[in-house]
Amino acid sequence: MKKLQLELAERSYPILIGDQSWSDPILHSLTRNKKVLVISNQTLAPLYMETLLQSLGDADAEQLILEDGERFKTLDTLEKIYDRLLTGQFDRSSVVIALGGGVIGDMAGFAAATYQRGIDFIQVPTTLLAQVDSSVGGKTAVNHPLGKNMIGAFHQPKAVLIDPRTLDTLPDREFSAGMAEVIKYGLIRDRDFFDWLESNIDRLMARDSEAMVEAILISCKTKAEIVAADETEQGQRALLNLGHTFGHAIESAQNYRDWLHGEAVGAGMAMAARMSESLGWLDSAEVEQIENLLQAANLPIKAPDDIEPSKLRDLMSHDKKVQLGQLRLILLKQIGHAEIFSDFEESLLIKTIEQG
Ligand code: NAD
Ligand code: GLY
Repeated sequence: MKKLQLELAERSYPILIGDQSWSDPILHSLTRNKKVLVISNQTLAPLYMETLLQSLGDADAEQLILEDGERFKTLDTLEKIYDRLLTGQFDRSSVVIALGGGVIGDMAGFAAATYQRGIDFIQVPTTLLAQVDSSVGGKTAVNHPLGKNMIGAFHQPKAVLIDPRTLDTLPDREFSAGMAEVIKYGLIRDRDFFDWLESNIDRLMARDSEAMVEAILISCKTKAEIVAADETEQGQRALLNLGHTFGHAIESAQNYRDWLHGEAVGAGMAMAARMSESLGWLDSAEVEQIENLLQAANLPIKAPDDIEPSKLRDLMSHDKKVQLGQLRLILLKQIGHAEIFSDFEESLLIKTIEQG
C-alpha cells in the first residue's frame, strides 16, 4: 500500500493507494461509534457497495443510492441527500462516504460541507479521474442550470481511499478521460513524469496494475503538493486547469452531451500546446510529442469541427479564471512547466481556435 499525506495543518489527511486501502484501520478510526451514510449510484452500488460495507465492520452504516450521471449533479439531488440525513437523524458527528466518480464525490462532499454547517466525509473514488484529481483537494459542488459547479464549497475529506482494482470495471472512454488528467500533471510541472508516461503508455492503457499505482501515486502527490500550497486557488492551483478553458468551452458548446470532460481537456491541452508554440515557448517537436501521447491515450487533439470558432471564443469568456474581464490561460513554457498567462494577443488565441 502507498500512502501520502496532504498537509493542511489541522485539516491534513491521508491518501491511501492500494488493494488494501478500503480495509485500512484509518476507516475504522474515522467511523467507529458514528452513524455513516455511504452515498453511491445505481451503477456502482451493485459492484462495490457490499465490499465497502464489509470494510466498515460494525459501524452503524446506511446507504443512499442515487441515479447515475452528471445531469443528476443538481440541487434537487442534493435535497434528496439532506432529506435522508435528516430523516435518518444523522448528527454533527456523523460521516458521509462518497463511493463513486467525481459526480458522487463532488455532490456527497458538498452535502457534507453544508449539512449542519459541515460534517466529516471520506472519499472512495472509483474512476481514474476521481482517483487522480477530484477526490483530492476539497473542491465540492453541484451544477446550476446556468453553469457547471457554480454552487459549491471547499471542504477537505478526512481521508481518500483509492483501490485501483475498481478501474477494472471502468468503461474505456472513462479510463481515457482520466488519463487526460494524469498527462496534465506531467505537462504542468513534472518533465520526468511526462517522459515516464511516454515510456509506459502501453502498460497504462492495458491497465497494468503496477503501472497504474505508480501513475496514481505521482498524480496524487503532485495534486497534494499544489493544494497544500494554495488550497483556495489564489495562485498556482489554477495550473491544474491546463487545457480546461478550451475544454470547458467545448463541453458547453455541446451542452455537455457528446464529449466527456477528460476528452475535452485532452483537446484543450493540445490547443494550449499549439498556442504555446505560437508564442515561441514550445517547438514543433515538443507539440508533436504531446499530441502523440494524448492520441496514444485515445484522446482527441482538436476541437470538434462542428463548433464555430467564434462560439468557442465567446464561451471561453465565461470561464471561472476570467478576472476583471480578462481571460487567463494556462500555457506551457516547456513540457513540465506551465504558467498562468493573460498578456497575449487576441489574434493568437483566435488563430489557435481556428486551427482547432
Ligand atoms: P462520473 O462520476 O460521472 O463517472 C463516470 C461514469 O463511470 C459514471 O457512469 C459512473 O457510474 C461510472 N463508474 C464510476 N466508477 C466506475 C467503476 N469503477 N466501474 C464502472 N463504472 C464506473 O465521472 P468522473 O469523470 O469520475 O467525474 C466527473 C465529475 O467530476 C464532473 O462533475 C466534474 O465537474 C467533477 N470534477 C471535480 C473535480 C474536483 O476537484 N472536485 C475535478 C475534476 C472533475
Ligand atoms: N481539478 C482542479 C482542482 O482541483 O483545482
